[in-house]
Amino acid sequence: MKQLHIDLEFHFYALDELNNDDRELIEIAKSMTENSYSPYSRFQVGAALRLQDGSIFRGSNQENAVFPVGICAERNAFFAASANAPEVPPVCIAIAAQTEGRFTKQPVTPCGSCRQALLEAEIRFQQPIRILLYGTEGVYEIPSMQSLLPLTFDGSELA
Ligand code: THU
Repeated sequence: MKQLHIDLEFHFYALDELNNDDRELIEIAKSMTENSYSPYSRFQVGAALRLQDGSIFRGSNQENAVFPVGICAERNAFFAASANAPEVPPVCIAIAAQTEGRFTKQPVTPCGSCRQALLEAEIRFQQPIRILLYGTEGVYEIPSMQSLLPLTFDGSELA
């Protein structure tokens, strides 16, 4: 028997330690929480995805009375980017959430489905997507989707 480890190394930044581009992306993600349609969870999530050419695609979570129909902010932003600029690699995504009128203290982290969706773009373009997770106490910077979803199912074994 062998014991194996997977480590996740990431940064925790104060907002004023980030560069202008990253701060801008976070501000857009924060503002996108206002466009959330979340009458069921009342959890308003915003996402901003920067592509390699500098363009930014925005998303917010959109819910439905038939719960599974809804979509997270991250996939909303990513699918919009992929639909409109399919050949441009995504390079960074910022995520923020507020509930009861306040942004979360802790950074909000993407769900497994969003990790899986964005990971496929990393694999397709052979380029990591940096992740900026906003909380009022600080920002996590995570180096890639792969690092958030180890032992990935990447479809390579599909016939
Ligand atoms: N949600 C997101 O949009 N992104 C996340 O990272 C976590 C969860 C949404 C889905 C649902 O509309 C609400 O937040 C509560 O789960």
